Amino acid sequence: MLETLKWTDSGVLFIDQTKLPTEEVWVNCRTYEEVADAIRTMIVRGAPAIGVAAAMGIALGARDQSASGISQFRNGLGQICRLIGETRPTAVNLFWAIRRMQRRFEEVSSRPIPLIKQALIDEAIAIYNEDIATNRAMGAFGAPLLPAEGGILTHCNAGALATAGYGTALGVIRAAVEAGKKLHVFADETRPFLQGARLTAWELMKDNIPVTLISDNMAGWVMKQGKVQAVIVGADRIAANGDTANKIGTYSVAILAKEHGIPMYIAAPFSTVDMDTADGSGIPIEQRASTEVTHLAGKQVAPTGVNVFNPAFDVTPAKYIRAIITERGVATAPFNESLRALAEMKPVAV
Ligand code: MRU
Repeated sequence: MLETLKWTDSGVLFIDQTKLPTEEVWVNCRTYEEVADAIRTMIVRGAPAIGVAAAMGIALGARDQSASGISQFRNGLGQICRLIGETRPTAVNLFWAIRRMQRRFEEVSSRPIPLIKQALIDEAIAIYNEDIATNRAMGAFGAPLLPAEGGILTHCNAGALATAGYGTALGVIRAAVEAGKKLHVFADETRPFLQGARLTAWELMKDNIPVTLISDNMAGWVMKQGKVQAVIVGADRIAANGDTANKIGTYSVAILAKEHGIPMYIAAPFSTVDMDTADGSGIPIEQRASTEVTHLAGKQVAPTGVNVFNPAFDVTPAKYIRAIITERGVATAPFNESLRALAEMKPVAV
C-alpha cells in the first residue's frame, strides 16, 4: 500500500507532496513546529491526512516537553494545539484530531507524565490505523454504487496521499476495481495546485488503474460525450445539511454532472462531517497565496501585479449530491436526517 506519512521515534515522516510526481522524497519533521509547517506548505495535504498529521504533531510536541508538573504540561499542550490549529482553516479533520488528542489528555491526566506522553503517542497511532480501516469500510459501502464498467470523474486528490492510506474517493474506486469493475478514471488536473495532475494521476498509475488526465475546463465536454458514468470526490468539511466543501472547482463539476444526469458522490470519513455547522455558508474557506495562480511550476504566467482571487475550496450545495459515503454507511437526501442518524451511531471499531 502506498504510504503517505508515518510515526517514527525520530519524528514524523511525510512523502513530500509538493515534489511529486517527479521526485519521491521523504521529509522528517523532528518538532511539532516542523509538522505545522508541513501542513501549512502542503507537504502533507488532504483532509484526513491533515488530521493524522496534526495528531502526530501533537504527540511529538507533547513527547518533547520538559514540563515537570501537570499544569505546565497542560499549558504546553495548549500551545502546541493552538499552533497546529492555525495551519489550515477548512479541513475540519484538523480540529477533530486536535479535540480528540485533548480529550485523550484529559482522560489520562492523572497519570505520571511519561505515561501521559505514551498515551498521546498511542492515540495518534490509533488515529492513523483507524483512518486506513475507515477508508476500507468506505470502499465496501461505496463500490456497489459505481457502475460495472465506465468512466468515473474525480477532482483533486482524495486518494492514499490524502489519507493515511487507500483513500476516500479513490478508495471507493480501488474497492470497485478490486471487486472486478472495469473502470476508467478521468482525473481533473485541479488548478491551481495541480493535485489531480501531480498526485491522482501518479497514484492511480502506480496501482495500474486506468486514468486519463484532463484539464479542468474539459470536464463538461467529456461528460457531453457520454464518457462519464459517475463523479466521486472527497470532502474537507460537510455541513449538517450535506453542503460539502471540497477543492475549488468541485462546485462547477457538480453542476456539470447535474446537467448531464450523472450521479455525484462524496466519500469522506465521518470525522469530516461537522454537525455543528448547519449549512455551507458557515464553512470557512481558506484563501491561499496569489503566486499559486500567477505561477506554474515556478514560472510566471500572468502579468506582475495582477489582482488574484485564490480560494482553495468551494461549497457544493447538497441538492447536487446523490449520496455521501462514510464508514458508517451511505447518507442520501434529506441529509439533515441521514447524517443525524449516522452521527448517532457508535464509531466503527477497528
Ligand atoms: O488543499 P488540499 O490538497 O488539502 O485539498 C484536498 C481536497 O480538497 C480533497 O479533495 C479533500 O481533502 C478530501 S481528501 C480525502
